Amino acid sequence: MQTLSNSYQFIGGCQNNREGGKRTKIFLDTASSKEIKEILQWGVISGVTTNQKIFSVEKGCNFKDRVLEILSLVDGPVSIELTNTSGSDEDLVDEASKYSRWDPKKIVIKVPMFGDGRGLRIVNRLKKKGIKTNMTCLITPNQLFLAVLAGATYVSIFFNRVRDAGLDAVKTVRDSTRIISDCGSSAELIVGSIRKPDDVYEIATASPHVITIPYKILMQMPFHQKTEDTIKEFDQAWQEFKKCEVQK
Ligand code: E4P
Repeated sequence: MQTLSNSYQFIGGCQNNREGGKRTKIFLDTASSKEIKEILQWGVISGVTTNQKIFSVEKGCNFKDRVLEILSLVDGPVSIELTNTSGSDEDLVDEASKYSRWDPKKIVIKVPMFGDGRGLRIVNRLKKKGIKTNMTCLITPNQLFLAVLAGATYVSIFFNRVRDAGLDAVKTVRDSTRIISDCGSSAELIVGSIRKPDDVYEIATASPHVITIPYKILMQMPFHQKTEDTIKEFDQAWQEFKKCEVQK
């Protein structure tokens, strides 16, 4: 079976203008192993992101078993979110440490940007323990700036939720990329909350490191009616050619 490591080389002809010519990657925003197996065959994804809402549609599975299954499929980062949001700092660090032990190289702990700064404390503590983090639910470049300085491995801007908040979402992504670069940080910007195929195109022009896309949206991206019509036109032309081809 194709894994993400051997699909990575195919990712993104999308050379952007960041220093070092880094490429914009696609992650799959899902907890469905069926969806991951199917999309892996395209050779376009290099990681997986999940959250509680994404798991809520995966009825009848065990959380740890499903994460281990995803890890067995994916040779790249797998983000899972802290759930004990009303717990103490110790509770959250313990939860993160437990998940990270499942695969310290690939597991990335999503830590929400709590409004009281608690999430920043957790990210900072996890960084010191060598645990990878993805600071999530970010809406503003200011939140992102803090997440980067606190030492998050990934920082996640929620594109359509930025729009829902009445802010300029493309500018937010562009400014966020710039802030990370100006901080000299190795943090990678993940843009999530993708609700239609055109969101992907708009976001890609702002050069984030990663766009995490739900299966339903990714499945719509190869299709355009004009492409279908063109394929049909060429098929018909081939039939015409074959009718009068000289046989040898
Ligand atoms: C996070 O990675 C997701 O994209 C998250 O589910 C947000 O998506 P939504 O704003 O469409 O709910």
